[in-house]
Amino acid sequence: MQEFGQLIQSLMLKFLGTYFACLGENLCPTFLGLSVRYLKTNINKYYVHDARTVSQLLPDRELINVTITSPPYWNIKDYGCDKQIGFGQSYQSYLDDIQAVFSQIYKRTKKNGSLWLVSDTFKYEGELRLLPFDISERLKSCGWILQDIIIWQKDRTLPWSHQGKLRNIFEYIAFYSKSSKFKYHASAIKDIADIKNYWINYPERYSPEGKAPSRSWHFAIPKQGSWGKNNYVRHACPLPPGLIERILKLTSDKGDLVFDPFAGSGSVLATAKALNRNYIGIDLNKNYKDMFLKSVLPSIKAQFNSRVNIADENALTMKKFRDLIVQLRCLKFPKELSRLYSKTGIPACLGVLVIKIARQNELKIQFIFKNKKATPPNFCKDLMAIAIKSPLSKYGISATIETTEVNKIDRSIGHMKSKTFFLYKGSIFYRWHMTISKADLKGKLQDLSNDELRSDRFPPIISNIKLKIDTRNPSKSLEI
Ligand SMILES: C[S@@+](CC[C@H](N)C(=O)[O-])C[C@H]1O[C@@H](n2cnc3c(N)ncnc32)[C@H](O)[C@@H]1O
Repeated sequence: MQEFGQLIQSLMLKFLGTYFACLGENLCPTFLGLSVRYLKTNINKYYVHDARTVSQLLPDRELINVTITSPPYWNIKDYGCDKQIGFGQSYQSYLDDIQAVFSQIYKRTKKNGSLWLVSDTFKYEGELRLLPFDISERLKSCGWILQDIIIWQKDRTLPWSHQGKLRNIFEYIAFYSKSSKFKYHASAIKDIADIKNYWINYPERYSPEGKAPSRSWHFAIPKQGSWGKNNYVRHACPLPPGLIERILKLTSDKGDLVFDPFAGSGSVLATAKALNRNYIGIDLNKNYKDMFLKSVLPSIKAQFNSRVNIADENALTMKKFRDLIVQLRCLKFPKELSRLYSKTGIPACLGVLVIKIARQNELKIQFIFKNKKATPPNFCKDLMAIAIKSPLSKYGISATIETTEVNKIDRSIGHMKSKTFFLYKGSIFYRWHMTISKADLKGKLQDLSNDELRSDRFPPIISNIKLKIDTRNPSKSLEI
């Protein structure tokens, strides 16, 4: 019994000894349970460490949500430290090291996690080396699934070209996931920047959430000295915070853990912090860590703080755009309905009452006729048949379609709060032509039978929707 007690005691001592030894060297104790405690005190840190031994720093657990990094580009640059990956190595052993690093990261990434790798091709001994694609082969064998390749267009670059090599203005961003179910918040990065003015005439082709992001991203490289007045960023290739922000919004949430095994200036880590994520970064070069703490972390934080108002403005513009697209669709829908119906016959319709119900995409449409006799047989049925087919089925509008007689129009609008209606003439659905008061609507509709407002294919639309978009300067309608 005494011997058994001694055995337990010596095991305990061994266990604690290893644990404290590991903590002392910033290494990870691999005992289950301790790693959680370890993480609590060891996140939001930049470690001077060799990426080849990520496993000594991070517990053997799925804890990383997203890794964003740009590895050393083989022999291209000397980062000035022993044991650096790339410089002075053969291409094969460089790729072996890269594979070893990302295999350890794979094991420590959550099932729905992802990896973003910025890299580029380069010329060596007169031949182009396809570095991003060679790395991709190695990462595939670790289990990473290549989801997409994005072109990062930079505006500043080396100004020269030479025989067989044009001036380079882009790099590749490869996006990998650990499994087929990965975080991907596409709507978080939709925007309306550079949107063409066609959204006015073709609102059904534009998502109210904005334009889906393309595979070509434009971000200027941060200038030397851009982070803090006197605090120059002396790193060859700092990633722009805007680019990192886009990746973080797309594939992570607040509170997630962001990792960069080749942190350099630490712009990934600082941007993660500014967007309320946690981070762990490593790099061999201690000077970079010092630069991160002294300049990059505070200046990226300040940059994001000063952007809070801009972010609010963007959100308001996006809301305005969303509302306009929905309203445009609501007015184009009945116009198209009339146009498509007119292919089979032209109804003697006086006008179309289009009432937008409080819910975003809900419409009540009433085709107004002089009297019952003037209403074509099966009219609503025929219109419904058109409405449920493409292209109208793609408008995302839920509509009730009815007919009414001009004498009964007061019944249709009597309960409505709006005192004014807007009349849209002919095929112009994005700009009202005249306003009509509720009290005058019936009289005006009766006049319409002889009025210049009438058009057989496009009976005027009378609606509670108020739209006046200047087609020559549509961005004015998005101003807040
Ligand atoms: C392309 S740079 C990364 C730049 C970084 N993305 C930024 O925004 O500043 C590659 C970095 O890898 C680091 N590095 C090279 N070998 C390493 C190794 N074995 N372990 C950790 N870092 C290493 C270099 O010091 C360099 O800072």
